[in-house]
Amino acid sequence: MEKKEVTSLYFGGGTPALVANKIKQIVGHINTYFTITEDIGIELHPCDVTEEKLLVLKDAGVTKISIGIQSFQTEYLKLLCRGEFNYNRIFSALAKVNFETVSMDFIFGLPGQTIEILKRDIETAFNNGANHFAIYPFIDFTFTDRKFIKMNNREKKKLLYEIVDYCNEQGYVRDLIWTYSKYGSSKYSSMTRENFLGFGCSATTLLEDQFKINTFDLQEYQHRINSGNLPTALKLNFSRRQRMVYYLFWTAYTMRVNSTDFKTFSGERLEQNYGFELLLARILGFVKKENNQFVMTTKGSYYYYYYENFYTLSYIDRMWNLMKNEPFPRELIIK
Ligand SMILES: C[S@@+](CC[C@H](N)C(=O)[O-])C[C@H]1O[C@@H](n2cnc3c(N)ncnc32)[C@H](O)[C@@H]1O
Repeated sequence: MEKKEVTSLYFGGGTPALVANKIKQIVGHINTYFTITEDIGIELHPCDVTEEKLLVLKDAGVTKISIGIQSFQTEYLKLLCRGEFNYNRIFSALAKVNFETVSMDFIFGLPGQTIEILKRDIETAFNNGANHFAIYPFIDFTFTDRKFIKMNNREKKKLLYEIVDYCNEQGYVRDLIWTYSKYGSSKYSSMTRENFLGFGCSATTLLEDQFKINTFDLQEYQHRINSGNLPTALKLNFSRRQRMVYYLFWTAYTMRVNSTDFKTFSGERLEQNYGFELLLARILGFVKKENNQFVMTTKGSYYYYYYENFYTLSYIDRMWNLMKNEPFPRELIIK
């Protein structure tokens, strides 16, 4: 059997390190079918960042880790219903076991959060083993039990501009819309892939013309696998137009859309298909044209958040609510 080349393997979200000692076996199995040419990444809950687990993951071939810190401030961890962690244990584990990328996830737009607080978070991350971080604007999912008043949009926008300015001053590189690397060399992203195969309960798969979601029900998942069937619960067959929009949405995460890449991907000319939208985006100051590509501005990145928030609430939120209750729903209606 000829092995297929894939760039990367990613374990997440949730807490895959609960089965840290199985990761090597899973990687080995995947290696019999695929050749991984670049990285193996994993999402880690702060509780899982111990020297022993990091050594086990490194031995399994993991090269990139992303730790869901969310905030180093006790008051925000409480707001997000997270426990407190032993940061010294995390930092000393990171000092002992090296990875190509050590990323930490944060959330901004929590009540009363200021740039001073976020600067402390960023510097704590960079001074204690991280070389990359993600900072996501807060999204108000319907299934989480929020007990605080959300930051208003004006303040959130101001905070985003302050984060961008601060990171520019420090020379940190904004490699994706919500991520920065310390030196520009260490990337981490599970989100900006043209195609991917999802294995496991609730995993999604993106193909050239299809998007699929596996069942969220563990028993049903096992049942399907044991009987030699795919555990797909929902499937969307893209129209050409939908696929192009999907490509553009996720490519915009890189803050640039290249006309040549778009042509290679879709066989169509970007400006012929989206000339009006791009012109409007330029007039509104959301993008700038640089040679062959459209580059998103800071203003554009704030309004992208609007769109992402809308997409997340009208699609991901609905899908999760449905899939949590039904292993194989008949359909998902997106309004
Ligand atoms: C976006 S995902 C995956 C991030 C991962 N580092 C990557 O690039 O593959 C998970 C992260 O989203 C963030 N997140 C979770 N809930 C959120 C919410 N309600 N609003 C904003 N961000 C949230 C958290 O920082 C969490 O660690």
